Amino acid sequence: MFKQILIWGVGAFVLIQAIQITIPPIPDKIDKSKEMPMPKEIATLIKTSCYDCHSYETNMPWYGHVAPISWEVQSHIKEGRLALNFQEWGNYSEEKKQKIYDGIAKTINLRMPMPMYISMHKNADLSHEQRKKIKVWAKEHSKKER
Ligand code: HEC
Repeated sequence: MFKQILIWGVGAFVLIQAIQITIPPIPDKIDKSKEMPMPKEIATLIKTSCYDCHSYETNMPWYGHVAPISWEVQSHIKEGRLALNFQEWGNYSEEKKQKIYDGIAKTINLRMPMPMYISMHKNADLSHEQRKKIKVWAKEHSKKER
C-alpha cells in the first residue's frame, strides 16, 4: 500500500513538472539608460531586495524550476515585473512613475519585499533604517514630480 502511494506520488510529481508558468521573455538587449535613477545607496538596497521580481536580472533559485513551488515563484516574477520593472522605468508614463513612487513608499514597510521571499532570502531583508531611507527617497520624488 505504502509503495503504491509512493509510486503514484512520484508519478504525479514528475507529471506536474510539465506545467510551468510562462514568464514573458527577457529582451535580448537591456537598455541600461531606461533603468530607474536612484542614489547609489538606494540602488544597492533595491538591487539586493527587489530585483529578483522587479527587473530582468532575476536570480532564479533551483526550486524556482520545481513544480509546484515554481508556480508560486514564477508567478511572483511575472506579476512583479508587470507591476514594476526597475529596468523599464524609462518607458513608463509620468502617471505610472508617480504611482510607483507612491507604491514604494506605501509597500516598503510591510508588503515588500514579499515576506515569503525574505524567508528564503535572508540577505534581501531590510532593516528598519534601510526601509526608512527608501521611504524618504520615494516620498521626496512623489512630491517633486507632481
Ligand atoms: C518575491 C518577489 C518580489 C520581491 C522580492 C519584491 N516584490 Fe514588489 N511585487 C511583487 C508582486 C508579485 C507584485 C504584484 C502583486 C502585489 O501588488 O502584491 C509586486 C508589487 C509591487 C509594487 C506595486 C504594488 C502597489 O500596491 O503599489 C511595488 C511598488 C513593489 N512591488 C515594490 C517592491 C519593492 C520596493 C521591493 C524591494 C524592497 C519589492 N517590491 C520586492 C513581488 C515582489
